[in-house]
Amino acid sequence: MNAALHTDDKIVVRWAGEPWEHEGALAIRRAVFCEEQGIFDGDDRDETDDTAQLLVAVQGADGAAPCVVGTVRIHRDPADASVWYGSRLAVRADFRRHGRIGATLIRLAVSSAHALGCTTFLARVQAQNAPLFRRLHWCTLEEVIVFGRAHHVMRADLAHYPPCATPCAGFTIDQRRAA
Ligand SMILES: CC(C)(COP(=O)(O)OP(=O)(O)OC[C@H]1O[C@@H](n2cnc3c(N)ncnc32)[C@H](O)[C@@H]1OP(=O)(O)O)[C@@H](O)C(=O)NCCC(=O)NCCS
Repeated sequence: MNAALHTDDKIVVRWAGEPWEHEGALAIRRAVFCEEQGIFDGDDRDETDDTAQLLVAVQGADGAAPCVVGTVRIHRDPADASVWYGSRLAVRADFRRHGRIGATLIRLAVSSAHALGCTTFLARVQAQNAPLFRRLHWCTLEEVIVFGRAHHVMRADLAHYPPCATPCAGFTIDQRRAA
């Protein structure tokens, strides 16, 4: 078991609302996409962030000093409101493969968009993560190179993502079942 993850700690995945949640999400993105993967230099934010909805995974949501341990963002296609995208999925390195944080971020991303009229949910997924998305009922439409790295353009099967109309409450990860 990871030393940073205590089984009594609740992890809630929800739409970000508070400034500290936004700051925590952006800090993880910088750590992952700038430092760990070296895709961006210092700051990965772009114009999509002006309109995107951030999601966060928060450890200790009911207790003292909650902290953000994962994030993703969702956004509509400006030309077609029924088409949504997910991007910048990142889980803090010491919380990966513990308790399905990434999978739950993906679930809320797609299900909350579904509740807002999404009929097509797409993402450009780094090739090493395509097996994870396939297990979560996504299919590859195309293979492309983005930022010099191999990606799959993938689409979620919405039949596996029932609409979630309460994204600010989100989903709670049961660590005891996940452990
Ligand atoms: C990709 C990432 C978000 C996954 O988050 P995570 O919290 O570790 O994933 P989960 O624990 O929810 O994984 C769910 C299941 O998929 C498996 N899995 C996780 N990543 C996988 C991968 N790349 N390939 C295959 N299986 C994977 C897990 O072992 C787990 O299996 P289980 O249900 O049998 O226990 C995380 O590894 C990460 O932040 N990576 C760096 C940034 C990145 O690559 N972002 C994505 C850009 S597309």
